[in-house]
Amino acid sequence: MMHMTKYPKSLIFIHWLTFFLILIIFYIGLTLEDYEFNAANMNRFRLHAILGVTVLILTVIRAYVRLTKSDQLPPKITYYSAFHKAFVVSVHYLLYIFLILAPLIGFIMVYQTGALTYDLGGPFPTDAEFDAGLLLLHQIAVFILAALIVVHVAGVFIYKLKTGKSLLSRMSIF
Ligand code: HEM
Ligand code: HEM
Repeated sequence: MMHMTKYPKSLIFIHWLTFFLILIIFYIGLTLEDYEFNAANMNRFRLHAILGVTVLILTVIRAYVRLTKSDQLPPKITYYSAFHKAFVVSVHYLLYIFLILAPLIGFIMVYQTGALTYDLGGPFPTDAEFDAGLLLLHQIAVFILAALIVVHVAGVFIYKLKTGKSLLSRMSIF
């Protein structure tokens, strides 16, 4: 068994790429509310959608890399308690799940309007509207994802305060 001090380069790369993409996707997402979903505004929605689907694909690759390189991960952190361990593991699993669910629901929401035919050269559907239930689900999934990220980042800093050890070097590109 090899002893690594850092996560594999590929996982580090995807971690920070996902982080930057999420910042941009969130920002664009919040501005979308002010725009009607029509052919003229399609590029705005498209950019949000393409970056969102990129996060989904990156997350599937990331899960695969994690599983196949499980012998190349750094040693487990020092958990404060059994509860802390269960909490950290759950937050990591939930992050993966919501990095897939949020874009997936977004994609289904757009697909359901029939607007993808426009991307394939067809006409933009008349009075395209998002299904209210799917929109709510997308908003809930995105909200949960944001909350998980806040808890995750707080956890990294609290760990430093409690143990004096920084976890950042394990996830650092340099
Ligand atoms: C979009 C935002 C973020 C997501 C979705 C995310 C997700 C994750 C996940 C799933 C892991 C577990 C390791 C893995 O499977 O790759 C992880 C580890 C880590 N993240 Fe993040 N992260 C985000 C932002 C941040 C930020 C802003 C920081 C900076 C404080 C950070 C610092 C770390 C560190 C230091 C680790 C390694 C923890 C360890 O040593 O086990 N993350 N992150
Ligand atoms: C990680 C991926 C994603 C994140 C974090 C995200 C985030 C957001 C946010 C914050 C909003 C604004 C919600 C509101 O306040 O009403 C939004 C709206 C929206 N998202 Fe996403 N999104 C993601 C992926 C996707 C994908 C892949 C699609 C489609 C393929 C999509 C389609 C939409 C649409 C159409 C809206 C606008 C709904 C409206 O007009 O109010 N999203 N998204």
